[in-house]
Amino acid sequence: MNKISTKLASCFFIVVLIMDLFLMFYLHRNIINSRVEEEYYTLLANGANHRDVLIENFSETTIKHIVLMEKSKDRAVIITDNKGNIIGSSDISESLSGQIVSLIKNVDVETDELLTSNWKESPYIMSVHPYISNTNQSGYVLMLQSTGSLNKMVHELTEHFGMAGATSFIVLFIVYAVLSKVITRPLIRMKEATEKLSKGEFNVKLAIKSKNELGELASSIQKLANDLERLKTDRNEFLASVAHELSTPLTYLIGYSKVAMRESLSKKQREQYLEIIVEESNRMKELVKNLLDLARMDENTFTVMKESFSARYFFEAICKLVAPSYDLKNIKLNFVCTEDFQIYADPLRLEQIVINLLDNALKYSKENTEVTLKACKNEGKTRIEVIDTGIGIPQEEIDFIFEKLYRVEKSRSRAYGGSGIGLAVVKELVEAHNGTIEVKSKLGEGSTFTVII
Ligand SMILES: Nc1ncnc2c1ncn2[C@@H]1O[C@H](COP(=O)(O)OP(=O)(O)OP(=O)(O)O)[C@@H](O)[C@H]1O
Ligand SMILES: [Mg+2]
Repeated sequence: MNKISTKLASCFFIVVLIMDLFLMFYLHRNIINSRVEEEYYTLLANGANHRDVLIENFSETTIKHIVLMEKSKDRAVIITDNKGNIIGSSDISESLSGQIVSLIKNVDVETDELLTSNWKESPYIMSVHPYISNTNQSGYVLMLQSTGSLNKMVHELTEHFGMAGATSFIVLFIVYAVLSKVITRPLIRMKEATEKLSKGEFNVKLAIKSKNELGELASSIQKLANDLERLKTDRNEFLASVAHELSTPLTYLIGYSKVAMRESLSKKQREQYLEIIVEESNRMKELVKNLLDLARMDENTFTVMKESFSARYFFEAICKLVAPSYDLKNIKLNFVCTEDFQIYADPLRLEQIVINLLDNALKYSKENTEVTLKACKNEGKTRIEVIDTGIGIPQEEIDFIFEKLYRVEKSRSRAYGGSGIGLAVVKELVEAHNGTIEVKSKLGEGSTFTVII
């Protein structure tokens, strides 16, 4: 009984039942009342007719005619004189005529009226019509109507209403059962689904296609389950990648430490191994720092502090910063900015974005090539392009390069020293500026990264 569907269906059931009962009771009473009124009216009208005929033409023959006219088994007429003696009547039992005569003697009526109207208890209803004829004869015309037919009609009507009531009760009950099932079934399925979700089982399938609120709720739960499932896989993959990324340099560290501890090594060899250990440790440190950066971005705990600053000055400073590493690989870095303009962004974050892109351009370009950094104002926004003529990215991999720890061909990483976090950080930073980043690349020909913020 705690189920909401049962409550709803019960409410519906009770309300409709009450309305049904009220309507039936009202109809039953009204039909009976109007039928009884009709009987009273007919009786009074007939009695008045007979009385009028008698006033016009008081004679034995008229009395006979009146009696003859009322010779039916349901109706009777009695005509009395002014002393209460019966001067004409239909076939009625002696006891009844006796009762009526004694009743008449105590009656003093001047207009037509109903003497007995209690149709429920009395075997008949009776009207009385006083007359004074043109021959100065006076008395009463009494009309009697048996209540048998009325009672029979009421009985039949009650029976019909009873049957209609029982049928509507059964129909209502079926509707109640179906309704509570129809509402309950999707609710139960959704409850089971959410219970599964709370236990960490996200492979939920809710096949509720209805377009109502229940359908919307089901599709929201399904979406939540899908999102949670995807997050779970993403998290697992990410953790596996992190574990892998950390375990590789650690294996090197342990291996080289063991080798460096050998007593047979010369000083120069030991220094070589220690250098490798320092290099690997730095790589790990960088990776952990980047991971922490990403985690902070995911939690949205970092803020973007936008300000206006000169583009030319900003980019020239960056070019100066990266120039030594570019020189080392003998790659020419061109900076193209036809006219100076103002950038409205967080300078520290934007620097991180551009340095990451320039770092990739350098890392994935061959010696003696060129990298171009272009900056301009376009439709009120800052457009930055980093163009290289390096190794390029295969078309099928382009969609994934912004994912955390994703690297094109895992073999590239050791050769180029990347961990696949740089572009994930760049994307988060660009999006924090409400900007966009796009890549165009051709394998073996080069890549162009375009940032618009
Ligand atoms: N300019 C580029 N040319 C060719 N490939 C690129 C370029 N930029 C990125 N990539 C590919 O995209 C992958 C992801 O780049 P990302 O910067 O995220 O990681 P990474 O450079 O490998 O490591 P790091 O975390 O040190 O930046 C790289 O592994 C590389 O294969
Ligand atoms: Mg990178």
